[in-house]
Amino acid sequence: NNEQKALFIIFGGTGDLAKRKLYPSLFRLYQKGYLQNKFAVIGTARREWSDEHYRNVVKESIKDLYLSEKVADDFVSHFYYQAHHVSDVEHYKTLQKLADELDKKYALCGNRLFYLAMSPRFFGEISRYLKTENIVTDHGYNRLIIEKPFGRDLASAQILNKEIEKYFPEESVFRIDHYLGKEMIQNISAIRFGNNIFSALWNNRYIDNIQITLSEALGVEERAGYYETAGALRDMVQNHILQIVALLTMNAPISFNDVDIRREKISALKALKVYSTPEEINENFVRGQYAGLGDMKGYREEKDTAEDSNIETFVAGKLYVDNMNFSDVPIYIRTGKRMAVKTTRIDIVFKQVPTNIFKDSGMQANMLTINVDPQEGLNLRINAKEVKPGFHTESINLSHLHDIETKENIPEAYEKLLLDALLGDATNFTHWEEVNYSWRFVDAIRHVWDLEPADFPNYLPGTMGPKCSDELLAKDGNHWEFNP
Ligand code: BG6
Repeated sequence: NNEQKALFIIFGGTGDLAKRKLYPSLFRLYQKGYLQNKFAVIGTARREWSDEHYRNVVKESIKDLYLSEKVADDFVSHFYYQAHHVSDVEHYKTLQKLADELDKKYALCGNRLFYLAMSPRFFGEISRYLKTENIVTDHGYNRLIIEKPFGRDLASAQILNKEIEKYFPEESVFRIDHYLGKEMIQNISAIRFGNNIFSALWNNRYIDNIQITLSEALGVEERAGYYETAGALRDMVQNHILQIVALLTMNAPISFNDVDIRREKISALKALKVYSTPEEINENFVRGQYAGLGDMKGYREEKDTAEDSNIETFVAGKLYVDNMNFSDVPIYIRTGKRMAVKTTRIDIVFKQVPTNIFKDSGMQANMLTINVDPQEGLNLRINAKEVKPGFHTESINLSHLHDIETKENIPEAYEKLLLDALLGDATNFTHWEEVNYSWRFVDAIRHVWDLEPADFPNYLPGTMGPKCSDELLAKDGNHWEFNP
C-alpha cells in the first residue's frame, strides 16, 4: 500500500501554476493510489471563494484526466478554500484551525506540505507565520516547497534563505527546479553510472566538449512583467542549465540518495570557473534579443517591455567545471526564446581516435545525445564501414526513442516532484549550496552586462540565435552539433 497521508496547503491556490500543474499532478497521484482517503488540500489566495467554487475550479483543471464523474467528485471533495492575506495574522489563525480539523477528519498524522506558488517576496513572511501561528505541527513532518525564482542574485537569495531557515531547516526545504523532474534529466545519472562504457569515458581524457541547448520557439508571451526583471540568464541558466551541468560533471556519488547526490552536485557547482573580468566574460558569454518579423513582434514591441529594453532573450556561453575529471572540457550552453524549435538536448562530443588509419576525412567524433524534449531518447553516433565496394567509413546512429506507450506513461515533472516531496526524497530539489554557487557564477556575468548595454535586437525569430553564438564555438574550432 503506497498511500501517503498529508495535508497540502497551497499558497497561490487560484494561480496558473496550481491549475495547470499542481491539481492535475495531485489527481494523477490519486489515480495511482499514492493519495487515497487520507489527504486534504487547502488552497489559499486573496480572492474570496467558496469551497464549492474552488472544487469546481479544481475539477475543471483535471477535466482531461478523468473518465468518471464520481472519481473526480470524490477527489475534489478533499479540497478546501480559504481566502488569505499573507500579512494578516488572523488569517493564519483561521488556517491553523482548519488545518487541525482536516488533520483529524482525514487522519493525516500531522504531516504537512506547504507549497509556496507565489511571489518570492512573500516566502519569508509566510514561513514565519506558519511557525509562529503553529500551523507547523510537532507530531508529523513539515515540508516547505518553494517555486523559483529563489532570489534575483546571490545577495537577495541569501537574505531569503536566512529568513526561511529560521523556521524551516534545510532538510525540510524543497526548492523546485522542474527540469529535475524531467525523465531524461533524471536519466543522466542512469546513463553515467549504470554503464561501464560511459563511466569509464566520462572525463577530460575522452570528452572533447559538451553542448547543452534549451531552445524555445515561443516568445515571452504574457510574462514580460517578470521577464523584464529577469532575462534568459536568470530565467534559464542560473537554475535549469546549471543543474544540468552539475548532473553531467559531478563525481559519482557513493550511493544513490539525496544526501550523497547533492553533495557531489554542490562540489561540481563549487568548481565552476567564475569569470571575473569583463574581458573574460565577453570572451565566453554572448547575449541576444529577438527582433520582430512579419506578424511576430520583436521583444521590445511586446506588451509590458521597455522600448529600449536591454534584457536578453538569448544567452550562449562557454563554461568550465574545474574538477579533476572536467577541467579543460568546454561546456557550451545556449538558451533563448523565439528560436527555430522547442528543443532540450545535451550533446556529449567525444575526442577523435588518436590517429585516423583510414585517412577518411569524413570521420566524425563519437557523440552521445540525450534528447529531453520534445522526444525523449538517446542517440549514439559512431563510425562504421560504409556498405560499398572499397573501404570507407560513415557515421551511423544507434538510437533509442521511448515508444509511444512509454511516452504516454511518463509522469509529468510536477507529478514526480510532488511524489518525491511526499516521500521526503530531496534528490531532485536544489540544495541551498547549489543555489548559492549558481548565483555566484551568474552574478559575475550579470554585473558586467548591466554596465554594458548590448546592441539589441540582434537575432530574427525562427533562427538559432545571433551570429555571435556560432562564433563562440568557431573560435575553438567547434560548431553547434544541433542545427535545425
Ligand atoms: C521556466 C521559465 O522555468 O521554464 C520559462 O521561467 C520557460 O521562461 C520554461 O519557458 C521552459 O520550461 P519547459 O519545461 O517548457 O522546457
